[in-house]
Amino acid sequence: MKLVAYFSRNGENYTRNGIENLSVGNTEVVAKKIAELIGADLFKIETVKDYPVNYHETTEVAQVELRNNARPELKKYLTDVDKYDTIYLGYPNWWGTMPMAVLTFLERVDLTGKTIKPFCTHEGSGMGNSVNDLKIKFPYAIIKDGLPIRGSDVHASDEKIKNWIGED
Ligand SMILES: Cc1cc2nc3c(=O)[nH]c(=O)nc-3n(C[C@H](O)[C@H](O)[C@H](O)COP(=O)(O)O)c2cc1C
Repeated sequence: MKLVAYFSRNGENYTRNGIENLSVGNTEVVAKKIAELIGADLFKIETVKDYPVNYHETTEVAQVELRNNARPELKKYLTDVDKYDTIYLGYPNWWGTMPMAVLTFLERVDLTGKTIKPFCTHEGSGMGNSVNDLKIKFPYAIIKDGLPIRGSDVHASDEKIKNWIGED
């Protein structure tokens, strides 16, 4: 079975048109498209402590977490990873890599031999260092090429997503 696990933050975000308030986060839009296309389960990675609605405040909180190599506590953890051979892993690019909460999530499960297909939404930096970071931290997992999608384009990303899924 396949799983789509993702982190996504709604609230104010920086878009092509400046700061906008998003009721559904960009990565969540992509995660749901993928889950529907491949018939996968969905798991939302959610921190106990919410990030600020304000975009700039969130960038500051995120920068401190990255600097401190923090592992923000999650509301729930994945307990049935044995069911899955492939995890589609989605996150926004935060400061050039994935939010630290994604590491909290991954470190709680045994990824030995699991295939990870990372996808990332961003505003210009693509996957950043995130795929390399995954390969270094989880050498016993099979990390595939990533799918970067510009956050402002998520609603027009179906073709790109289908092509990437078709690479399997
Ligand atoms: C804390 C923070 C840091 C960000 N850092 C970057 C970055 O380094 N490069 C980039 O291209 N976009 C960056 N962005 C923009 C997000 O990656 C982009 O808006 C993404 O689509 C947000 O996804 P979400 O709505 O699922 O949370 C950042 C946004 C936030 C909130």
